[in-house]
Amino acid sequence: MKLLFELSGEHPLLPKAELYAVLESEGIAFKPVVEHEKVLVLDTDARSTEFIHRLAMTLKAGTAPMLSTNAKEAAAILSIIIPKDRTMAVRSKSHTLEEELGEQFFERGHLIDLDEPDIKVLAYRMPGSSILAAVNIPLNRDYNKRRPQYRPYFHPTSMHPKLARTLVNLACVKKGSTILDPFCGTGGILIEAGLMGMNLLGSDIDSRMAAGCKKNLESYGLFAEIKKENALSLQAASPLMDAIVTDPPYARCSYVSEGGRSDLGGFYEGFLASAGRVLKPGGRLVMMIPRQYHVSFEGYVFLSEYFIKVHKSLTRRIVVLQKCS
Ligand SMILES: C[S@@+](CC[C@H](N)C(=O)[O-])C[C@H]1O[C@@H](n2cnc3c(N)ncnc32)[C@H](O)[C@@H]1O
Repeated sequence: MKLLFELSGEHPLLPKAELYAVLESEGIAFKPVVEHEKVLVLDTDARSTEFIHRLAMTLKAGTAPMLSTNAKEAAAILSIIIPKDRTMAVRSKSHTLEEELGEQFFERGHLIDLDEPDIKVLAYRMPGSSILAAVNIPLNRDYNKRRPQYRPYFHPTSMHPKLARTLVNLACVKKGSTILDPFCGTGGILIEAGLMGMNLLGSDIDSRMAAGCKKNLESYGLFAEIKKENALSLQAASPLMDAIVTDPPYARCSYVSEGGRSDLGGFYEGFLASAGRVLKPGGRLVMMIPRQYHVSFEGYVFLSEYFIKVHKSLTRRIVVLQKCS
């Protein structure tokens, strides 16, 4: 099936990287057929659109996308799949396109409701004045409702759920996979992984964090073993983890255990060596560290990296690694 995605503009690379990683993790083959600015149409062998609800950095999605040179043809084709007993409206950044296309649906006998339509048609003006239109898939984008300040246990280092989910998705894992966050803090990453149906394991050197994380998970109906443990001395686990997704401390607001303060680069390398003992060969490790540290990724294959500028003196670096087989 062909699917349309309108990606978030908040980062130049992450939204597409997240989408492609989720498709890969769900075993869905795909090929881009249209790409313009933040809009992407993929030809996929997906049998369901369920995977789309995992995506944090996709703003909108649609089924049955079609490219046409005029509004009349676009409406004629989409009209076949839109029931005439349901209300509908066209949504586009271009008001003229909304009106033009909406009028065509009205002339074809569709019930128009501009305020609360049952069905929305997403429409985009493409280069050469062609029109790209698709039937909207409603997405439950409730990330702001899950912000850290609404959880029973709060700490200022907690990660925003949208970023946490993106990191989990970059790990190329799916429902039933086991995820470890060994610097779990208040549980931002584990909450998102748990809501996507993954098995969770977490640890933190600070017992208050470990207890708070457990409490936060429980407030979302999620349960996991959360231990007080030093991430630099993880003990070989059985079975091994499918992925490790984590946000180690970077010595600003969060506590860094001994050794980390004077040599954060060495601290991250010590963690990677420790993580290698519990991660399965071929499993991914996604971590977010400050840009300025040189870190050797020995024992791992470097897959990709993404930079997020926070302020003048802090740029975060998301690194995606794969444990050598
Ligand atoms: C940046 S915070 C993680 C925030 C987390 N992602 C969240 O959403 O709350 C880093 C965490 O690492 C923990 N930490 C510091 N040194 C550690 C170590 N050696 N082993 C395990 N945890 C450690 C800190 O207690 C802190 O909770």
